[in-house]
Amino acid sequence: MASLIPEEYRSIRGFQDILPEEIRFWEELETTMYGLIYSYGYSQIRLPLLEKTGLFKRAIGSVTDIVEKEMFTFSDEKQRSLSLRPEGTASCVRACLEHSLFRKLPRKLWYQGPMFRYEAPQKGRNRQFYQLGVECFGVSSSEAELEQIIIFSKLWQKLNLSKQICLEINNIGMPATRNCYIKDLISYFNKYKEYLDRDCLRRLEVNPLRILDSKNPDLQDILQQAPKLINYLEPAALNSYESLKLGLDRLNIKYIENPRIVRGLDYYTGNVWEWTSSLLGAQSAVGAGGRYDSLVEQLGGDPVAAVGLAVGLDRIVLLLQQLSNFKTKQLDAYLICSNNLAYIDKFLVVEQLRDLYPNLHLEVDLLGGTFKSQFKRADRSGAKLALILGEEEFSQDKIRVKYLRAGCDDPNLEALQPTVSIKELFKLL
Ligand code: HAM
Repeated sequence: MASLIPEEYRSIRGFQDILPEEIRFWEELETTMYGLIYSYGYSQIRLPLLEKTGLFKRAIGSVTDIVEKEMFTFSDEKQRSLSLRPEGTASCVRACLEHSLFRKLPRKLWYQGPMFRYEAPQKGRNRQFYQLGVECFGVSSSEAELEQIIIFSKLWQKLNLSKQICLEINNIGMPATRNCYIKDLISYFNKYKEYLDRDCLRRLEVNPLRILDSKNPDLQDILQQAPKLINYLEPAALNSYESLKLGLDRLNIKYIENPRIVRGLDYYTGNVWEWTSSLLGAQSAVGAGGRYDSLVEQLGGDPVAAVGLAVGLDRIVLLLQQLSNFKTKQLDAYLICSNNLAYIDKFLVVEQLRDLYPNLHLEVDLLGGTFKSQFKRADRSGAKLALILGEEEFSQDKIRVKYLRAGCDDPNLEALQPTVSIKELFKLL
């Protein structure tokens, strides 16, 4: 149906409404995640949507795609450059430093909310999108990585998504190691310069590691033969990588080693990983994370070991919708009422019902009219029962029940339309 709203008031490209029909997927996902994350001792932190641009430049890196071309940046009235957050890690570290949260380590935090990146919108890629992130500070062993990966493997299990999501891991080492590697990578790619596309040639100048991320099918052979970072790793990084793999093996968590994971944010310093799903097309990353032991110091604190990850909720919801993993939450009952009854009496009964049955999912007809029209709406609501309140029922503290859907335990009841006292309604629910 054509939109009725004039163009000038329509929503901004890449900024989507999440409509009531989709919300059940979000709610189910959020409730499942919250329970799980709390059960591993993570505490919630709520972070602002807007930060000084310099924070992201320093944390994510000024020559990354995110900072170079994907931030929503503007000046406020005092000419300060501000940006809508493109991710949560930078703000989380900033908040911990500002409020001295690193005095007590380890510190395990989680956050959730909208992030903003000026990317070309497509399926699974929005300009306002939602992440849930977890960050663990003060644990230098790969136990922190392992625990976070376990939490999210459990989440995939709980959501029935384990078969659809694949874990890919790598270790990208400390910056010094990476720099030696980058030098060799540049010499390697320079040999194939004539074959590289425009984007890769640009990356060769500003961020050669990102060439490894290229999806260009014509370049896959060249990328496959490129030097591998794992061959340059320092012993500590190798140990940490081996220990993570051992933990995953022992816990029977399946993974693929992918030497081409380099991550698009500069702060990573060791084990990194991504969860991908082939059901999502081009935007296949469902979540990603890794170790970033230098970031706290870079932002002005004493060194603190750190590991974290974020999952993209929009993409998980897309998977849940594709697989229809959740049943619609049905209304239990729809209450219709005789027009001869004062509306306030109707509300007295309804509130009595709500107090007696706090878990009853009950919608009350507010439009009135004939019983026939009210029954039509009751039917359309999807409720299992219609509760009918006439003058007689009201005077006796009773309610009449009509089964609207097949499937009640006693088929005779469908025809019967029993009348019960309000206190005994539970017997028919
Ligand atoms: P990231 O890989 O940039 O990492 O984003 C994490 C996830 O956010 C992605 O895997 C994807 O599911 C989702 N995502 C990213 N951009 C979009 C978009 N435009 N539309 C929809 N979903 C998107 C980070 O943000 C790091 N802060 C993760 C982290 C936390 N590392 C350590 N701690």
